[in-house]
Amino acid sequence: MKILGIESTAHTLGVGIVSEEEILANQRSMFEPDEGGIHPRKAAEHHYQHALEILNNALQEADLEAGELDGIAFSQGPGIPQCLDVGAVMARSLALRYDLELIGVNHCLAHISIGKRTTRAENPTTLYVSGGNSQIIELRSGRYRIIGETLDIALGNALDKLAREMDYPHPGGPEIEKLAEKTDEIIDISYPIKGMDFSFSGLVTECERKIGKKDDKIIANSFQEHSYSAVVEALERAMAQENSDEALLTGGVAINSRLREMVEKMCEQRDAEAYFPPSEYCMDNGTMIAHQGMIELKADIETDVESSGKKPNWRPDEVEVEWIKED
Ligand SMILES: [Fe+2]
Repeated sequence: MKILGIESTAHTLGVGIVSEEEILANQRSMFEPDEGGIHPRKAAEHHYQHALEILNNALQEADLEAGELDGIAFSQGPGIPQCLDVGAVMARSLALRYDLELIGVNHCLAHISIGKRTTRAENPTTLYVSGGNSQIIELRSGRYRIIGETLDIALGNALDKLAREMDYPHPGGPEIEKLAEKTDEIIDISYPIKGMDFSFSGLVTECERKIGKKDDKIIANSFQEHSYSAVVEALERAMAQENSDEALLTGGVAINSRLREMVEKMCEQRDAEAYFPPSEYCMDNGTMIAHQGMIELKADIETDVESSGKKPNWRPDEVEVEWIKED
């Protein structure tokens, strides 16, 4: 079975192609704002402008014609509405033109599924941290439950905001990481954990107030140490509660080496295994959408054109997981 997947929830337009045996293509184009954060209309314009090019690149990489595919999967949500429309339009057009199955998939669940495919994780507790989402997710009784999540902004968004205030370019995460690596010094700021939930906007404000009074690298290091400790503590609590011995770290922020180090250390201490998918499959990508589409289509799950509209607020726990048989 060969499935093409389209990702367009936020700044990345991605097209990937998978079969059961292989990942056949993974192409992307990322919208880079000139200033500020992601402007929904401008990001959508970027996606429309690059749609054909990225689609053709993926088909070329896989050495396939569109008619040889078995299905078209797309990120139906959650995400920025204007951006979601692009993927949905591309997917519907291809499915109708070539008479292919259409599968609208949940973006968060696709992160978990590609994480499992590219590592040896079987039933992990997932920490998904990106520009738009920050959640701890676990499969329980037929659904991926959100065990913990941000109460305000996502961790990646917080990193971007702080970097922007310090006059560093988008995306902010890598800039903050580079700065933080230059020092071990931290200042005392709030530790943003609430049970198994966390929050970052207060922490960003606190750090912003230190700009000009403290060195940028100390602010960056303090932000990383406090926010990453909070999400890893929440992850550990979730694992302890479920007696889980596998952690999966994914999402754009998952490529941060300090965060990986903290997850690794925590898992070591509890005799659990930490799994880190390759960076290209942590960031938003079309391949994960293709893979999620494939496992759903194999379980006879597909989407009618009539119900293929965008779902900007689609939470992963709304999806009934019919493609995994639990013990
Ligand atoms: Fe994502």
